[in-house]
This record gives sequence, structure tokens and C-alpha cells, in this order.
Amino acid sequence: MKATARANTNIALIKYWGKRDETLFLPMNSSLSITLDKFYTTTTVQFCKDLPSDIFLLNGCLAGETDTLKISIFLDRFRKMVGENLKAIVTSINKVPTAAGLASSASGFAALAAAAAKALRLNLDKQELSVLARQGSGSASRSIYGGFVEWQKGIKEDGTDSFAKPILSEQEWPLSVLSVLVESDQKIISSREGMKRTVETSPFYPGWLDTVDQDLTIAKEAIKLRNFEMLGKIVEANALKMHATMFGATPPIIYWKSGTLEVMQRIQKLRLEGIQVYFTIDAGPNVKVLCLPEDEQRVYETLTILPGVQHVFVCHPGSGIIYFPDTRESKC
Ligand code: PMV
Repeated sequence: MKATARANTNIALIKYWGKRDETLFLPMNSSLSITLDKFYTTTTVQFCKDLPSDIFLLNGCLAGETDTLKISIFLDRFRKMVGENLKAIVTSINKVPTAAGLASSASGFAALAAAAAKALRLNLDKQELSVLARQGSGSASRSIYGGFVEWQKGIKEDGTDSFAKPILSEQEWPLSVLSVLVESDQKIISSREGMKRTVETSPFYPGWLDTVDQDLTIAKEAIKLRNFEMLGKIVEANALKMHATMFGATPPIIYWKSGTLEVMQRIQKLRLEGIQVYFTIDAGPNVKVLCLPEDEQRVYETLTILPGVQHVFVCHPGSGIIYFPDTRESKC
């Protein structure tokens, strides 16, 4: 009863911002992402007969109570499906530098869902895995698949129609995504708290909901046409609009740092210099930059020398979930 799976993290091009159900992680709006190739989580789940409680080892260290509880609550859904109450040893290796400002929860819960289902021989398809991964972290629903992925919000109360689906594989449009680190401290407001406060207090949130579907339609059309300029423009506008909803929250949420603005302004200048390059920013200060592979080196060189930039990670579209054969069935 042991299995190992790996999931890559993803970056949203059209953001998920706001929940309609806090328990089931049901989103207010549909979203779209690219799964990346560089940052991933590999997780082994082993269910054991005589284990009194779940054990969670993250990067070789025993995790604290809060993180272990999150894992246990997540695994309970799988235990319920097979009607067994076996506890598990969960071993995760996270190749997502938290310092890169990339959410490790997306790859973390996608890998955990895949490994737990396989360990219990649940035989789930990717859609069912996406529904389960979503309940650990919304963005994890998209990391089941590679390339360009849409998470359809769904309308059902039980969330069974809220899952991701692939729209273009990682080989079909090899864009460059540069993850620009301007700040490595952990953020003070989690995305969970940030979106909740925005939904409850921001007068700009209705404007987000009124326009995000159209942003998604434009982005999907741009992907279909492989029109990079069309995609870049809507991606950048959508990210700025999400942050604008947060500026209107009470108390306001500002994830940006001076380095964030420095990168944004340099990108706008690069565009004036004739390079097609666009940015997006999640619930944090770091910037993800999209460009065409032929401009990657120039954009990389321009951004690394900015005083506010600590590091630039160069990524490309990556694959969905992969499984590893179990070499040893350790006793427990
Ligand atoms: O699913 P979470 O809790 O990692 O929230 C993700 C929120 C954003 O990164 C800002 C947007 C997104 O769609 O990934």
C-alpha cells in the first residue's frame, strides 16, 4: 500500500481569486495556468496497519502539528473512499524553493492526491484526481495536467464539476517563463486569507467577477491562435486587476515590494524596445515573466542586473503527474 508520484507547480495566467465554498475549495471564477518544468514535489505515501497516526516528513524533517493535520484531513477523504482507517507515512521532497515565490501547495497537494490514490489502488482518472487535489489547495487542481490547463469553476454545490482540464500540451507552445525573485521572506498574508478578505470587503471585487470570464475567453483564444501578444496583454491586465481588488480590501492588501515595481517597469520598457514580454504576479511580491524562447536570454540578462532582483529562475512548460515504480516496500 505504497506509491510515489511527482507533480509540477503551475503559474496562473488568468487567476483564481475568491472562493464560493471555503470547505470544498470551490472558486468564484474559472482560471487558467501553465504547468512549469523546474519546480516540483515528489511524494511517497505508505499506508500502514499498526500506525497510530499519520506521519509527515517534508524534505527529510518531521513536519509540525499544523502541517501534519492538513495532510491528515486531506487523506481522510481517501480513507473514506475505501472505507479503511489506515494511517500513513507521507514523505515529500519539495523542489519548489519557497524563496522563488512559487506556491508549493499546488505541486504538493497534486502529488499527494496522486500518490495516496495509487497507494490505495483507487484507480481514479485525472478528473477525479483534480477534484480531490482541489480540496487541498485550489491551484493544485491544475497541477494534475501538463502544459496549459483550465480549471472550470463548476456550478454544483458538491464540487464534482469543479476540476481542471488540459487545453494544450507542454510541447505544443514552448514559451519561456522567468520566475523573478525580489523577496525571499515568507508572505504575511496567505492567499487563502487574502482572497477571503477581498471577497468580503473589497468594493472592486464585483468588477473582478464581471470581467474575469471575458479575460479567460480572450486568453483561451490567444492560446488557440498561438498569439503571444494577445495572451501577454490579457495575462498582465488580469494580474493587475486581481491586485487592484486587494488594494480595495479592508484592511488593504499590498503584496508588492519596491523590487516588484522595478521589474514591472523594466518589462514595460523592454516592450518599448521591441521585445514581446509580459508579467504576472500572484499573492506575493515576486514576478513571473512571459516571453518567447528567442527573447529569453535578452530578458534574463536585463532582469538579473536590476538592483532589486535576487535571482531569476528560467522555466518552460512542464508535464502533469508522473508516477514512480516502487522499488522497496518498506515494513511498517
Ligand atoms: O490555491 P492557492 O491557495 O495556492 O491560491 C492561488 C491563488 C493565486 O496564486 C493568486 C492565483 C492562482 O490561480 O493560482
